[in-house]
Amino acid sequence: MRELSLNVLDIAENSFKAKATLVEISIVQKENLLTITIKDNGCGMDEDFLKRVVDPYTTTRTTRKVGMGIPLFKMVAEQSGGNFHITSEKGKGTVVTATFLVDHLDRPPLGDIAETIVSMIGNLEGSDLVFYYEAFGQDFTLDTRLVRKELENIPINTPEILVFLRDMIKENIKTDYRGVSL
Ligand SMILES: Nc1ncnc2c1ncn2[C@@H]1O[C@H](COP(=O)(O)OP(=O)(O)OP(=O)(O)O)[C@@H](O)[C@H]1O
Ligand SMILES: [Mg+2]
Repeated sequence: MRELSLNVLDIAENSFKAKATLVEISIVQKENLLTITIKDNGCGMDEDFLKRVVDPYTTTRTTRKVGMGIPLFKMVAEQSGGNFHITSEKGKGTVVTATFLVDHLDRPPLGDIAETIVSMIGNLEGSDLVFYYEAFGQDFTLDTRLVRKELENIPINTPEILVFLRDMIKENIKTDYRGVSL
């Protein structure tokens, strides 16, 4: 995978499959460390399953025998001088954290995170998403629960609303600063 935003999409997809009603995605850059966290309140995993989940042969998929979302994210983090961590509690939810060294030669670029977040918002149905982004000293939060309130009776997945949200994210997140690019 060439872009971290695609890994984020993969991990969040797990959360929605796990019936999460709230998924919180946080991307934070502090100096040379980039930390990506995906937290959900879905079905969670028991201790035994959790121990095996970084193995590609651990999946509850019925369409194929391998599950690559978690192993790939772990691999990319470790290849970028960072770490990978997952905690989960059955019936409560899951937290996936991956860190990356910003200046590491093997760190993939973040990619089009605005587009990625908006594609998730387009498929939320009843669930909600919180997106928190902090980089180069500037932060931004988008909470679909608040957006829905503002929209009153207009569905959040209306194409015009999605375009508006995408542009709002793009305008409010700093992905480049003084020659450093996330
Ligand atoms: N957030 C989560 N909540 C509950 N279970 C999860 C969560 N994330 C992963 N799992 C479980 O771990 C398994 C492995 O996840 P992983 O993303 O590595 O592969 P996959 O989702 O099965 O397949 P792929 O990601 O390749 O489509 C999943 O099948 C699911 O059972
Ligand atoms: Mg997956």
